[in-house]
Amino acid sequence: MKYFLDSAKLDEIREAYHTFGIDGVTTNPKHIMNSGKPFLTAIHDIADWIREEGLEGKEVFPVSVEIDPYIEKADEMVEAARKISAISDNFVIKIPCTPDGIAAARALENEGIRTNVTLVFTTSQAILPAKNGSLFVSPFIGWKEANGEDGKQYIADIVQIYKNYGFYGKTQIICAAVRTGRQIADCAIAGADIVTAGMAVYKDAMTHPYTRQGIENFRNAWDNTAK
Ligand code: E4P
Repeated sequence: MKYFLDSAKLDEIREAYHTFGIDGVTTNPKHIMNSGKPFLTAIHDIADWIREEGLEGKEVFPVSVEIDPYIEKADEMVEAARKISAISDNFVIKIPCTPDGIAAARALENEGIRTNVTLVFTTSQAILPAKNGSLFVSPFIGWKEANGEDGKQYIADIVQIYKNYGFYGKTQIICAAVRTGRQIADCAIAGADIVTAGMAVYKDAMTHPYTRQGIENFRNAWDNTAK
């Protein structure tokens, strides 16, 4: 399972890539806002960094960039997506899962612009983007679970549907808004292709209090070993 960093902060992206080998990035308007930069500056800076690192290509290091959330009509989404896509070969265009969004994603895929259909909250929403060949679909497990819903079963159901119809591995499932290590593991058990989360979530998922306690126990033994 691939790990994407959910962030538009270049220092975080750089750290996550060099330290933990993350496989790609997802951004959204909230992450752009948190970067403290204007939208175009933030995404151009990411595109420049990709070139500096020699990571060009969506297959190497995809970066999902969301279009203006005020755009509602399919043709206007396509227009906005074309402009963003021209900035970097790595950019995958995030399109909201609405009827217009699904139509726009279909049109974009037909002209070779790869899409990430986002804000997906039901299994049925996940089907058409796959039929239409979107590169990614992003079910939001964290928001579902915050709402008391079963995120693990939700992802497992999408995986099963994709396997039933030959979409599995073609339209890759990005489990989005992942908040905990347990959710990361649940997504992996369910067979998701990718998780996306913030750096703090990944670091939390790498730690356990017993690991720290074990280090202390072994230090104690080390100090009391016969000299
Ligand atoms: C995923 O692609 C989204 O950017 C992200 O996970 C959205 O959720 P959040 O901003 O609530 O974390």
